[in-house]
Amino acid sequence: MTGRKLIMNFEVTATSHLLTDYRARGGYETLARVLHEMRPEQVTKEVANSGILGHGGAAFPAGRKWGVIKLNDGQPHYLCANADEGEPGTFKDRWILEHAPHLLIESMLISAFALQVRHAFVYIRGEFDLPYRRLAAAVEEAYAAGLLGESVLGTGMALDLVVYRGAGSYVCGEASALITSIEGRKGYPRNRPPRLTVKGLYQKPTVINNVETLSNVTGIVAHGAEVFKQVGTAKSPGTQLVSISGHVQRPGVYEVEYGYPLARFIAEDCGGGLNGVPVKCIVPGGISTKVLTWAELQNVTYDHASLTAAGSGVGSGGMIVIGEGTCMVRLLQVLLRFYHHESCGQCTPCREGMGWMHRIIDRIVAGQGRMDDIEQLARISKANDGTTICGMGDAAGYATLGILAKYRGEFEHYIQHKQSLMDGRLEVAGATFAEAAAHA
Ligand SMILES: Cc1cc2nc3c(=O)[nH]c(=O)nc-3n(C[C@H](O)[C@H](O)[C@H](O)COP(=O)(O)O)c2cc1C
Ligand code: SF4
Repeated sequence: MTGRKLIMNFEVTATSHLLTDYRARGGYETLARVLHEMRPEQVTKEVANSGILGHGGAAFPAGRKWGVIKLNDGQPHYLCANADEGEPGTFKDRWILEHAPHLLIESMLISAFALQVRHAFVYIRGEFDLPYRRLAAAVEEAYAAGLLGESVLGTGMALDLVVYRGAGSYVCGEASALITSIEGRKGYPRNRPPRLTVKGLYQKPTVINNVETLSNVTGIVAHGAEVFKQVGTAKSPGTQLVSISGHVQRPGVYEVEYGYPLARFIAEDCGGGLNGVPVKCIVPGGISTKVLTWAELQNVTYDHASLTAAGSGVGSGGMIVIGEGTCMVRLLQVLLRFYHHESCGQCTPCREGMGWMHRIIDRIVAGQGRMDDIEQLARISKANDGTTICGMGDAAGYATLGILAKYRGEFEHYIQHKQSLMDGRLEVAGATFAEAAAHA
């Protein structure tokens, strides 16, 4: 973890996932204070005043989402923590689940109090093993200690928390697909309106937030919105857990204060390119955000406004470093194979478009590409924009257009010469793909 003033400020130890350890550092004291001294609407107001933006990818203000829930409307309300974390290159929620599961549980208890929730869920990625075991054990500990169940800390509040395992679908991380999956149906996204805060799980008002968004709630309520806002920028308050991988010397999970210089983060905090390989470009926030070249990111700071102005985004916080010598044609092939595999098939532009793009890029890599394939990829990408139910169709297009715009020459060379412009270059720079993968 790096950064100067950290919000989570959570030091990892061999026992930091256990209840005794969490309590020894003041854990669940904020919950007790909330239950005894605050009203639900005060908690929501504090979260809204903090200005915290969602950490799951769309950066929607959490307070605005919570504000839609009408208290005392006679309906059940549900709360879901999105722990699907399927975006390639993203593994920051995993860090919370493995090392600080009680921080998430305490935060969900406080959030459930604010939103008048009786049943809450954590939808966790099916492939997660240790994070699942740690979280499930922490939930059991919380029940045994009277922190969950019929009478939370002996008060009138009741909360049951269900840990629900996904089955390996990327699209089930999309909020409406997540809900249908919990309901026991195929994880298909659905059109809005109605919004999930109006008709969500079991057709009832539902708040879905990312694990990291929710995990910030305890700190926000404990220290107050004003303290929270002292960190980060005016438009992006707080910090972001960034998982960084790829051709980088020190991969891992870092807590970065919004507004921190991006190039400095990569070059200094993360040690720069792997084995000294110069950085060619980065994917700043999961593969659905556009690549930024090393030159482009020199004056960029790590926050929503700066990354958006540079033509990309904070996204899911999953940063991938791509070293000089990497073939962008093959990189796009990997991305398009993923998107094609994960399309749920409901929308024609996504279902057919992903297949077409995958077949075109396979053809190029096999040395059978045609020059108009580049335009064809761009056309299909644009056709997806805004024409699909969920964001996956758009995202695949953005990723493709970003790479084509910046590395068109590599595609032309591959098509003309039937081989990559980059063949052999990564080895010359000092590291093989295998070494990079082993290091990541
Ligand atoms: C295809 C797709 C996959 C998604 N996967 C995740 C995910 O794994 N985790 C997540 O928190 N949000 C994911 N999202 C975003 C969610 O739909 C939703 O915006 C988010 O969980 C809301 O939480 P937040 O407001 O706290 O960010 C995904 C969106 C799409 C379109
Ligand atoms: S955009 Fe793709 S993944 Fe999303 S609902 Fe449509 S077909 Fe399914």
